[in-house]
Amino acid sequence: MPASRADNKVVEAGSAGEPGFGIYVHWPFCQSKCPYCDFNSHVVAHVDQSRWARALAGELARYRALTGPREVTSIFFGGGTPSLMTPDTVGAVMEAIARLWHVPDGVEATLEANPTSVEAEHFLGYRAAGINRLSLGVQSLDDEQLKFLGRLHSAREAMAAIALARETFPRLSFDLIYARPCQTPESWAAELREALSHAADHLSLYQLTIEEGTAFERLYEKGAFRLPDEDSAAALYALTADICAEKGLKAYEVSNYAIPGAECAHNLVYWRYGDYVGVGPGAHGRLTVGGNRIATTARRMPGDWLEAVEATGDGTQTAEEVSPAEQGDEMMLMGLRLEEGVSLARYEALTGRALPEERLARLGEQGLIARAQRGNDTRLIATSQGRMVLNALLGELLA
Ligand SMILES: C[S@@+](CC[C@H](N)C(=O)[O-])C[C@H]1O[C@@H](n2cnc3c(N)ncnc32)[C@H](O)[C@@H]1O
Ligand code: SF4
Repeated sequence: MPASRADNKVVEAGSAGEPGFGIYVHWPFCQSKCPYCDFNSHVVAHVDQSRWARALAGELARYRALTGPREVTSIFFGGGTPSLMTPDTVGAVMEAIARLWHVPDGVEATLEANPTSVEAEHFLGYRAAGINRLSLGVQSLDDEQLKFLGRLHSAREAMAAIALARETFPRLSFDLIYARPCQTPESWAAELREALSHAADHLSLYQLTIEEGTAFERLYEKGAFRLPDEDSAAALYALTADICAEKGLKAYEVSNYAIPGAECAHNLVYWRYGDYVGVGPGAHGRLTVGGNRIATTARRMPGDWLEAVEATGDGTQTAEEVSPAEQGDEMMLMGLRLEEGVSLARYEALTGRALPEERLARLGEQGLIARAQRGNDTRLIATSQGRMVLNALLGELLA
């Protein structure tokens, strides 16, 4: 169900098991660095947008030579803060993608945006450039909390951006961060219910994590704040799924909730272990070339990446073949995040081996995994209990 009054048709995410082919474009700049964030994002005084547009298009063309002609199933502008791109830059990149590959009408094209009023001025331009889904980084609907999270926008500005986005784009998602210091189940329930009343068809709800090298890491280590303990965090997680379910949003992935049919097609490409091209500083890609699976990473520092692309026509940092065993591990790592789980037949065809029955039985008895039949396909699924301890579960499963 689309979130907005705009009536443009958008192709829905593919059914379980169809991995698709996505294009990811990384914009590495932000207005300021949020204290919790370890994404590849940088604050700079000036960005030459047309230089960046040319370099991104050049990288896309280089990847087209590797992939050959393919049908694109999703496009995603992530960051950093892609809403700092001008609509012309977004348009130039979208045109390059459409020139290079087949992009059917209505293919999901998402852009991540910060909800400041300045960035909201770009929304109409993005829509005209072909963006049909906006992912807004709202983070909280409480001004005190926004301040704590170092955000540059108020709750009011975020609300205005949500309203404008709903008018402008056929589909809307927004991000919230919860399990914040001192957050009670009651206050989170009220905030989440308010968020849901703004009728996004998709929400990304992340528990606050302390990442290496961030300002929050230093503050946390000094004891400036504490996070909810494991049991409280687990209770908040269960509450989140219950409240989303009241509004018909299903927990289709560990941190992602959607009305059925409104799942993010692009993120499903990653989780279903499909192929994707990644361009821009630090972007990752996974491509099947000549029967081999290649993992690519781009140079991480923006200046370094731009110079390399302009001087040599190639911003690659690494491009390595992924062995079948590593592919199996990656497929489980990604796929068990999803409620639909992983096809055991696909896993076995890829790796040439089955997971040991004794291991599956043990994890099943512990209530962490289950097997489900879908037609001829047996799928391995992490239960909701298993998804809460996914890293430990994967450690056992893939040992
Ligand atoms: C690339 S960022 C979002 C893009 C956009 N620049 C913004 O800030 O709104 C993706 C999302 O990851 C989440 N995130 C980043 N670091 C996090 C952390 N340490 N803990 C929890 N969520 C985090 C935030 O919700 C953020 O919106
Ligand atoms: S959360 Fe978003 S705006 Fe903040 S530093 Fe990270 S990428 Fe930039």
